[in-house]
Amino acid sequence: MRSIELGHTGVEVSALGLGCMYFGSAIDERRSFELLDRYLDAGGSHLDTANNYAHWIPGSEGGESERVLGRWMRARRNRDQLFVATKVGFNMPPRVPTSLSRQTIVEQCENSLRQLQTDHIDLYYAHCDDRETPLEEVLAAFDELVRQGKVRFIGCSNMLAWRIERARSLSAQHGWPQYCCVQQRHTYLRPKTGITRFSNGHVPVNGDLLDYVTEQAGSLAIVAYSTLLGGTYSHPSQRIPGNYQPSEYDPLDMQARLKVLQAISRETGASPNQVVLAWLNQAAPAIIALVSSSTHERLQEGLDSVSLELTPEQVTRLDQASG
Ligand SMILES: NC(=O)c1ccc[n+]([C@@H]2O[C@H](COP(=O)([O-])OP(=O)(O)OC[C@H]3O[C@@H](n4cnc5c(N)ncnc54)[C@H](OP(=O)(O)O)[C@@H]3O)[C@@H](O)[C@H]2O)c1
Repeated sequence: MRSIELGHTGVEVSALGLGCMYFGSAIDERRSFELLDRYLDAGGSHLDTANNYAHWIPGSEGGESERVLGRWMRARRNRDQLFVATKVGFNMPPRVPTSLSRQTIVEQCENSLRQLQTDHIDLYYAHCDDRETPLEEVLAAFDELVRQGKVRFIGCSNMLAWRIERARSLSAQHGWPQYCCVQQRHTYLRPKTGITRFSNGHVPVNGDLLDYVTEQAGSLAIVAYSTLLGGTYSHPSQRIPGNYQPSEYDPLDMQARLKVLQAISRETGASPNQVVLAWLNQAAPAIIALVSSSTHERLQEGLDSVSLELTPEQVTRLDQASG
């Protein structure tokens, strides 16, 4: 599988990361192991999870995903071949609040290390912004974990461009590690103009962020989540599922973009999902896309997108489609 350098860390990660959010909750352990094996067989090594996945699934409390990854890595003895990203900051009721206080970061890091059965996290994300905690406190806590060897690199997620810039400047000033990547919600369909944050707290990639990342000359990577919008592109009705905030997308823009997507899918013989993933991977600045599915077939469909090369003309048509 193709890989992309993670910012200026000198470390390359798989261009398609595996979203592990539902492992151990909506997706049972046996199936989770099979999907992980399949991703590894396809040459992937970049796993994405979080301390709170997936507490909202009935019967789950949060942490199931990390625990399944921990048991799988132990069973397969493959921790050294993998790049494991996890996150802290979003709440996990009733025990853990939404917070990036030093105490939450330090305690939750220990918890994640224990659940993942590892002595280090490759990439540790601030899962969301926390305006109540001074950035200095957040970044000093991450610095402590990096100095202790518990975390290799830090990233942020669901954070606006100006907050990322402020955090990175503060890190540079204090000699602390800088956020080397930002994980934001991003796919081919665009939210309505003016939406900087979805009603559920997800923050989309927007022009402001792309401009900032371009200015950073490769030192800040973008990781995209919800790339397949919960199956919208391949579902016959092409309706955005309710939990992906459909009313926050512009129907005319959506119609225009789906039309071009279908046309390019026909031209290339690739599925619309694959065209979306290839478009993300070929973007400038480059985007690392997360893929996930509970089925072998659909996961394979996503993984096969790595061999799809869109022509510059197709990329331009996709870029320019708008309603
Ligand atoms: N940083 C954050 O705040 C944040 C937030 C959300 C997610 N994430 C990360 O991103 C990953 C992916 O998130 P997501 O689940 O929202 O991603 P998504 O790409 O929007 O949706 C994946 C879902 O799409 C469905 N799907 C895929 N291909 C399909 C097809 N051909 N037909 C029908 N359905 C299809 C799958 O359902 P089936 O299982 O039925 O195939 C799967 O559950 C997560 O695992 C997590 O690691 C991060």
